Amino acid sequence: MRRPFIAGNWKMNSTRAEGIALVQGIAAGLPADCSVEVAVCPPSIYLDAIVTAAGDSPIGVGGQNIYFEASGAFTGEVSAAMLKDVGCQYVILGHSERRHIFGESSSLINKKVHAALNGGLIPIVCVGELLEERESNKTADVVAEQFYGSLAGVSAEQMETVVLAYEPVWAIGTGKVATPEQAEAVHADLRKVIAARYNSAVADKVRIQYGGSVKPDNASELLSQPNIDGALVGGASMKADSFLGIIAGAK
Ligand code: G3P
Repeated sequence: MRRPFIAGNWKMNSTRAEGIALVQGIAAGLPADCSVEVAVCPPSIYLDAIVTAAGDSPIGVGGQNIYFEASGAFTGEVSAAMLKDVGCQYVILGHSERRHIFGESSSLINKKVHAALNGGLIPIVCVGELLEERESNKTADVVAEQFYGSLAGVSAEQMETVVLAYEPVWAIGTGKVATPEQAEAVHADLRKVIAARYNSAVADKVRIQYGGSVKPDNASELLSQPNIDGALVGGASMKADSFLGIIAGAK
C-alpha cells in the first residue's frame, strides 16, 4: 500500500559529466515495469543538467537543501521555486550533515519544510540519533523531538505527502548499517508518533525511508521490514549498478 521509494543523495560528489552518465546508467537499468519510486538528489548546480539527462525516464530529481524565503538577499541560497523551476519534485531537508555540520535546528528545518510544501515539492525530512544518544537510550526521544520540531504546523493533508528518512548518524558513511531489527524498531516508533500527532490513517500513508550504509547486499532485508518503506542512499547511490541493486531489493 505504501509505494517503496529509493532516493540517492549524492551529497557534494560527482562532476557534471559523471552525474549525467550516472542518471543515464540508472535509467537504462531500470526494469520497464518498475514499481519502485526512484529519485536522485545531485548537488544543486547540476540539478538542471540531471533533470534533462533523466528525460522521460521514471527517475525523479530532488535538491539537497533550500532556504525558506521566496527570493531576496540570501547569498548562496536556492529557493523552493528555483528547484521547481528546473524540474525537481523533491528536496531533502534536515539531513544530519545539515543539522550537525551547518548547525540547522529543527525550527529552521520546519520553515524549510513549509516552504517546500507551499512550493509544491515533496520534502524528504531526515531524523536520526548520534551514537552517544543511542548508547544512552535516547533514540526514541531524539527522533520524536526532531519529528515534532521539523514538522510543526504541517496539516494532516500535507503530512501524507511528506517522506521521512530515519538516518542514525552512526550508520552514515561508516559501513555500520543498523540491523533490520534496530531500524524497524525506530520506524515503528516513528509511525506511532505520527499516529499520535495526526491519526492512524495518516500514519499508515507516510513513507519512512531508512538511510545509513544501505548497500545491495543489505537492502532487501532492511526493505522487507513492515515499517521500512524505502531507502535514502549515499555512497551506494554513486554507482548505477549498486543503486539498481538496492532498487531491486525493494520489490
Ligand atoms: O542521505 C543518505 C546518507 O546520509 C547515507 O549515506 O553513504 O551511509 O549511504 P551512506
